[in-house]
Amino acid sequence: MANTAIEAVILTIIFFITIVVSDDNAQIPPQRSQVDDWFRTNIDAYTARKGTLDPALAEAEAGTKVVKVRADGTGDFKTTLPKGNKNRVIVSIGGGNYTEKIRLVRDKPFVTFYGAPNDMPRLVYNGTAAQYGTVDSATLIVESDYFSAVNVIFANSAPRPDGKRQGAQALALHFG
Ligand SMILES: *[C@@H]1O[C@H](CO)[C@@H](O)[C@H](O)[C@H]1NC(C)=O
Ligand SMILES: *[C@@H]1O[C@H](CO)[C@@H](O)[C@H](O)[C@H]1NC(C)=O
Repeated sequence: MANTAIEAVILTIIFFITIVVSDDNAQIPPQRSQVDDWFRTNIDAYTARKGTLDPALAEAEAGTKVVKVRADGTGDFKTTLPKGNKNRVIVSIGGGNYTEKIRLVRDKPFVTFYGAPNDMPRLVYNGTAAQYGTVDSATLIVESDYFSAVNVIFANSAPRPDGKRQGAQALALHFG
């Protein structure tokens, strides 16, 4: 088996066109078959919630922009994300593996990573606590507000900790 320590798949829990707000007290069910029901019960259409949103978020959703990143190197995460953007930036990510460590800094809010359900991109890196510290070992570190992801796999490919190696623990995704 590949020695992938952690792999997190974010499925279509967040539907980028109509959503944005959910009931934070109702946990997302672990069973995939129940996610649609949970979604219908807990997330109102964007149009219904618009007036209750952070005005900065409502403004961001009103003028979305799509940028593309492809595994062949067409576009990349660093140059496609503008600093201090005020509109949602949907990063359309083609299928394949992206071996990269990415940090979304605070002044890059309103970002959505969006992959195709039948060809999900996989963002992978092998950071470990020994090298970066536990928190910063993550493949994707999100410091900015209003991030979302749809159909993207976040992975950390460092070897699974064996209880002997120091600092072998590793994260795939970190919000903070
Ligand atoms: C990405 O890497 C994984 C794990 O090594 C592998 O199973 C998969 O086939 C790769 N995907 C592509 C599109 O190369
Ligand atoms: C991560 O990958 C690099 C390049 O393949 C390798 O040199 C390094 O030993 C790996 N680190 C860990 C912790 O697996």
